[in-house]
Parts: sequence; C-alpha cells; structure tokens
Amino acid sequence: MEKKLAGKVALVTGASRGIGRRIAEDLALHGAKVVLNYASQPDKAEEAVAAIRSQGGEAVAVQADIARVAEVERLFGETLRVYGRIDILVNNAGIMITKPIEHMTEADFDRQFAINVKGTFFAIQQAARHMSDNGRIINFSTSVVGQMFPGYSAYAGTKGAVEQFTRQLAKELGAKGITINAVAPGPVNTELFNVGKTEEQIKAIVGMAALGRIGEPDDISRVVLFLAGPDSQWVTGQTLRANGGYI
Ligand SMILES: NC(=O)c1ccc[n+]([C@@H]2O[C@H](COP(=O)([O-])OP(=O)(O)OC[C@H]3O[C@@H](n4cnc5c(N)ncnc54)[C@H](OP(=O)(O)O)[C@@H]3O)[C@@H](O)[C@H]2O)c1
Repeated sequence: MEKKLAGKVALVTGASRGIGRRIAEDLALHGAKVVLNYASQPDKAEEAVAAIRSQGGEAVAVQADIARVAEVERLFGETLRVYGRIDILVNNAGIMITKPIEHMTEADFDRQFAINVKGTFFAIQQAARHMSDNGRIINFSTSVVGQMFPGYSAYAGTKGAVEQFTRQLAKELGAKGITINAVAPGPVNTELFNVGKTEEQIKAIVGMAALGRIGEPDDISRVVLFLAGPDSQWVTGQTLRANGGYI
C-alpha cells in the first residue's frame, strides 16, 4: 500500500472508539504516527493503540478532556514531546444530548457546547500555534444540521458553530498552507448514534438515506483520509456531507 502520510504526525481527538478509532487506524495504515486522544476509557484507547501497533503502525494514547483548554494545551504539548511535530488534527471527539427544548438543562447545554464547540475551537488554536506548514485540520459536523429533527436543536447548534469556524478559519490559516475542512456524517453505526434508539427508530432514520443503509466508521474515515492527504491540497473551508444521500 502506498504510504501517502509517511513522515506525518496526526492527532485524533476521541479516538478510543467509534469513528475516531477507525480514523486513527487508517491514518496509521497510511504511514502517519498517531496520537489517540480519549476522555475516560483508557482500556479502549490502549486496545486501539495495540491494534495499530500489531499492523506495524506507530501510535500512543493520551488522556485529555477537550472541554478544558488547559487539557487541550497539555494534549498538544504531549504530541510535540513524543513525535516532535504535528501535521494533521482531526477534531472528532463529540457528544450528543437530544431532548425537547422544554427538558434541556443548563448542564446539558454547557457540556455539549464545551466539548463540541469549545474543544474544537481551542484545539484549532493549538494547531494554529504549533502545526507545521501545509498541515490539515478536519472538523466534525453532522448531517442533522440539514434535517431539523425535533430534540436535536442544541446538538445541531454546536455543529453549526463548527461549520462556521471551518469557513471562517480557512482564510486565517491559508497563509501557512494549512487547510481546514469539516466532515458531516449521516447516521453511523457507533454508540453515539445507537444509544437510546429502538430498532424501529434506527430503521426509520437509516431508511432516509438514498443508499438505504447505515454508515460504518470506515465510510467516514475514507473521507478523512482524503482531507488529511495530499490529494485535497486545493480544498479548504468546505463541509463534506458523507451520508449516503441522507440530505
Ligand atoms: N455516529 C453518528 O451517527 C454521527 C453522525 C454525525 C456526526 N457524528 C460525529 O462524529 C464524531 C464521532 O462520533 P462517534 O459516533 O464516533 O462517537 P462515540 O462512538 O460516542 O465516540 C466518542 C469519542 O469521543 C471521546 N470523547 C467524548 N468526550 C470527550 C472529551 N470531553 N474529551 C476527549 N474525548 C472525548 C470518547 O472518549 P471515551 O471513550 O474516553 O469516552 C470517544 O472516543 C462526533 O463529533 C459526532 O458528533 C457522529
């Protein structure tokens, strides 16, 4: 396999499971050294690191709650200490709390915005300070920003902010050749999507995609690979909806 990312160092937030783990594995398969960030499940993160190493890749796990700016700074400090540079940042970590607005608490709102919005913003700030020229930043939105499902207002609001950061910061980071794009998945087979839904609800949501199936993490990691690699050098400030034709 051609190692398009040989010599690159990537940091993937929320890489202990779900989409982030698959992204970390695929970046490593293509030659990048990868820092897998996680919040609370060291066993899962170490399992992901072991899987990468067993395939000949280089990876380490670093715990940090990206909702806290000091921890984001420590995460980047650790990346630079271990691998000496950073070329690719994937702002994948995210949570989803869905409730009718009547039931949404201040704590629900603050937690969602702290992880999805503040975490993404201050990770981009660290990248702006420390990333090598011609780096790649990939943010995470969602296709529900175009669906208007009841109960998703706060979550979709966090991702609307992320899409705006993406458009806005492309102009600010372009001088260093750094590109910044977002991926907006449709429903993907992970804990974040599956928890709390009945089989019927899942079937109904998945049935809205033109391609008629649920997305798998590798449907998304392939898109991230494109945005992280040399073939996307002329793409910046964009949001790519990888969703099987969901919207
Ligand atoms: N799945 C979908 O259908 C879907 C659709 C559209 C968009 N997305 C977006 O895709 C991204 C990944 O989602 P997923 O489905 O893979 O989620 P997931 O399976 O729930 O995994 C979430 C990951 O984020 C980490 N994380 C959570 N809070 C964190 C924090 N404060 N600091 C650092 N890491 C934290 C978790 O680490 P721990 O294991 O340590 O808790 C875990 O590795 C999210 O941004 C999500 O909004 C998902």
